[in-house]
Amino acid sequence: MFKALLLEKTDDAVTSRIAEIEDSALPEGDVLIDVSHSTLNYKDGLVLNGLGGLVRDYPHIPGVDLAGHVAESSHPDYEAGDVIVSTGWHVGERHWGGYAEKARLRGDWLVKLPEGLSARQAMAIGTAGFTSMLAVMALEEHGATPEGGPILVTGGAGGVGSVAIAVLAKLGYEVTASTGRASSHDYLKDLGAREIIERSLLSDGPNRPLDKAIWAGCIDAVGSTTLATAISQMKHGGAIAAVGLAGGNDLNTTVIPFLLRGVKLLGIDSVLCPKPRREAAWQRLASDLPLDKLEAMISTASLEELPGLGSDILKGQVKGRVVVELN
Ligand SMILES: NC(=O)c1ccc[n+]([C@@H]2O[C@H](COP(=O)([O-])OP(=O)(O)OC[C@H]3O[C@@H](n4cnc5c(N)ncnc54)[C@H](OP(=O)(O)O)[C@@H]3O)[C@@H](O)[C@H]2O)c1
Repeated sequence: MFKALLLEKTDDAVTSRIAEIEDSALPEGDVLIDVSHSTLNYKDGLVLNGLGGLVRDYPHIPGVDLAGHVAESSHPDYEAGDVIVSTGWHVGERHWGGYAEKARLRGDWLVKLPEGLSARQAMAIGTAGFTSMLAVMALEEHGATPEGGPILVTGGAGGVGSVAIAVLAKLGYEVTASTGRASSHDYLKDLGAREIIERSLLSDGPNRPLDKAIWAGCIDAVGSTTLATAISQMKHGGAIAAVGLAGGNDLNTTVIPFLLRGVKLLGIDSVLCPKPRREAAWQRLASDLPLDKLEAMISTASLEELPGLGSDILKGQVKGRVVVELN
């Protein structure tokens, strides 16, 4: 038996409870994992609240991310005792996820943790931080350098934003963070943001198709009018990594910045990211994310606290990264 947060659907409502579940109820997979840590992402907030149509079958164990030790494996790459991390592949949506003391997954989805990162630190990073690194790698591949000019990070105090700021600052970039929370200014400065701007300067929408060229690059967790404003303010040749939709999934813009400034809009998908790129991103996180900054982002939660936190994250009220402690 193992303990899990179980979601059930009754009529149109999704409810949650802590349950004891038989090992034999776990879904098929070639690696059995003793889960030690999980975390909370924006998508977990959607799943916990039964939103977004992400979960098809109930009862369901949520938890998009997990880390822990391999207990049993019939996959050639893993043996008992290996410390692994799992993000993406629709775990926690279509497959039972990390809000449980045990999980059974496909070995092809897993990544062995690089030297220097613990399971707890991996979950402090989680999908949010992993995606931030994919965004940083995408900007680099499209010409970003620390000498090129300031990088804008939107949704600065959120999970994606926090890790992006810490990594970019360590790499020597001049980072401007946008935030809607005045209480986050010291936190963002401590992570390495050089400048902080009020969220509404971006979310009110662009003044004109081509505004003053400010940003050499952008990691955008917000979408909608915020992303449209960023597009209008990019320097010539600048690249934007479009990561999220915390402010909305619409995008009303013009092609003018793409035609006259060669602006590049790069989509970032962490869920189906191929394994070699996953491994490269985790290696980069081990080397380029300052662990003292990561520590400053962490708050700890139990399984019991997750339903409440799931609602908070959808309202933009969770700062940094939540680590869920299991075994
Ligand atoms: N593409 C992918 O593979 C991928 C992976 C992970 C996450 N995501 C997406 O990335 C986004 C951020 O994820 P996260 O885990 O970092 O979530 P999060 O911790 O909630 O961070 C989002 C941040 O956006 C800001 N924000 C919230 N509501 C806003 C609004 N209405 N207008 C403008 N800004 C708003 C807030 O930052 P401030 O208070 O500082 O303004 C909030 O902390 C989500 O949309 C998520 O679905 C995508």
